[in-house]
Amino acid sequence: MDPLPPRLHRDVVSYVRRSTRMNESQERAWFRYKQEYVVAVLHGDLSTSVAPEARVDWSEQFGREAPLIVEIGSGGGDSLVPMAKGRPGANVVAFEVFEPAVASTLSRIAREEVGNVRMVVADGAQGLAVLFDDASVSELWTFFADPWHKKRHHKRRLVGTDFADVVAAKLAPGAVWRLATDWEDYALWMREHLDGHPLLVNEHDGWAPRLEERPVTKYERKGLEAGRTVYDLTYRRRDAAQA
Ligand SMILES: C[S@@+](CC[C@H](N)C(=O)[O-])C[C@H]1O[C@@H](n2cnc3c(N)ncnc32)[C@H](O)[C@@H]1O
Repeated sequence: MDPLPPRLHRDVVSYVRRSTRMNESQERAWFRYKQEYVVAVLHGDLSTSVAPEARVDWSEQFGREAPLIVEIGSGGGDSLVPMAKGRPGANVVAFEVFEPAVASTLSRIAREEVGNVRMVVADGAQGLAVLFDDASVSELWTFFADPWHKKRHHKRRLVGTDFADVVAAKLAPGAVWRLATDWEDYALWMREHLDGHPLLVNEHDGWAPRLEERPVTKYERKGLEAGRTVYDLTYRRRDAAQA
């Protein structure tokens, strides 16, 4: 496997570094369930970065071979937990950099007895690039990624052409990338950067219907309450014959 693709800039990250202070119940969940559900990876310069030489054997982590689903930016697990529960036949790997949110997710995973999730507390863009073989991921979820509104911050947006190159390399032929956002300018940006990608096909030739299995998270609710439209998108990795 190649190390990080050269164009994935490691000094520009798509998240804000926040305090890792947890409330009491998060702390309890963190210490109780970390061992079971959090996969430790070799970090690079930052505590949230993934070292280029980091490796994970996913089948060993899950104790079985199964199709791999990856979520990047799982927040408190509001989509992750129910969606993983609805896909018992898949191994679901979620990346989230904010530890208190991971702790809340752990508590929910345990409460709902969802056995097919593993979490990585690290940058998911780097994690996807480094920790997965090419053509090994059957589905990728990026829901309500931070919008980074200001023009000078656009380079921090998770979704863009560099990241799309990584996604296209890691998705198996025919596998899908599902996205959702409540910010129209980011939704249009996604179309602008992904519609023309040589290895990705916009499944619906435009906006996707709302993914029914995706629960309404607080981000979606906030957007709707503020009068914004929620946009779903699905891109399918071309198979070798189409590429
Ligand atoms: C706006 S929240 C959305 C959370 C969740 N997807 C939902 O819909 O409820 C975005 C989350 O992505 C996380 N995040 C942003 N960039 C990330 C990255 N590169 N790797 C892992 N997590 C990331 C942030 O810490 C934050 O928790």
